[in-house]
Amino acid sequence: MMRQAGRYLPEYRAIRAKADFLTLCKTPELAAEVTIQPVRIVGVDAAILFADILLPLEAMGAELQFVKGDGPSFPHPVRTREDIARLRTPDVEESLGYVFAAMRLVRRELAGQVPVIGFGGTPWTLAAYLVEGGGSKHFEHLLAWSYTDPEGLAVLLDRIADTSIAYLRGQIAAGAQALQLFDTWGGVLDLQRWRSLALPPLRKIVDALRALPDAVPLIYYVNGGNHLLEGMKELPVDVLSVDWRQPLSTVRAAVGSRTLQGNFDPAALLAPIPEIERRVAAVIAEGKGGGHIVNLGHGILPMTPVDHAKAFVEAAKRLSTKSEATSE
Ligand code: CP3
Repeated sequence: MMRQAGRYLPEYRAIRAKADFLTLCKTPELAAEVTIQPVRIVGVDAAILFADILLPLEAMGAELQFVKGDGPSFPHPVRTREDIARLRTPDVEESLGYVFAAMRLVRRELAGQVPVIGFGGTPWTLAAYLVEGGGSKHFEHLLAWSYTDPEGLAVLLDRIADTSIAYLRGQIAAGAQALQLFDTWGGVLDLQRWRSLALPPLRKIVDALRALPDAVPLIYYVNGGNHLLEGMKELPVDVLSVDWRQPLSTVRAAVGSRTLQGNFDPAALLAPIPEIERRVAAVIAEGKGGGHIVNLGHGILPMTPVDHAKAFVEAAKRLSTKSEATSE
């Protein structure tokens, strides 16, 4: 489940009461503990390292704050070529070593019980936060830049790609067994502009990671990207992860037998448990025709009852085993 280590869990909130979000990310023992919580409490089949996609931007020299209730904020947004020149190319061991330390702790503590997934944001999605200065409704600064000086923006995206490659390689070296690339705001672009703006730096990351001797499976997630399926299909990743807005059968028809991940509506975890179970069965039926990792279509909502998250995981395990048995 996306954001499976998070505020819906009382055990997570207890730790958050003692440490702010960035401190939690930067304290390997605490980050490891909250990473493992959903494995023990909810029974998920994989751990997702507790960190945030925005951390490498901080390592590049952009001051990052998490303001309670408001989400992330960059008080000095990057909006010009001069701003780009002020960013560093960080030594990731030095500036992001806490993430790798948390990864090593999680691997050791889980001792092979379930695999551990690392992750990063795509350059386009990371730039969205860095250029706007935080979350945004319309991304006007980013989009204005993309029309007035696309080459300048491409320089920023390329710088982010280079740091991301070093960061994601570090996660693999520390024990990540798969990597997910989050393109939360890729869907803002039409297919042609996604291909010209977002894809080149993303492709650079994917190609670099695939070429590693210790390469791991790659998952690409896009939110609101139904119109991008044709482009996603060409991306050489192992798994395509999508939101809930389009049935998986439609996604399957567009991308073929590639393994899909998704696409349970996180809001449907607020439904009564029998309805959750019915919907899990429906998602599994929709996913046939290739590999399918049952997952949420976006982050779990903080108000989700823990029982409901457990019911989702339990139904996914029970029903997917059953469909395997019947297909044999
Ligand atoms: O369990 C996991 O999935 C691992 C950890 C994880 C977090 N963020 C922790 C987190 C992951 C994989 C992310 C990815 C992430 N972070 C994305 C991509 C996925 C998506 O949601 O689209 C994005 C866009 C971010 C940036 C970010 N971090 C935002 C916009 C926010 C604020 C929104 C919110 O939900 O409050 C965060 C904060 C954040 N990252 C929290 C967690 C658990 C909540 C912080 C808290 O405890 O107060």
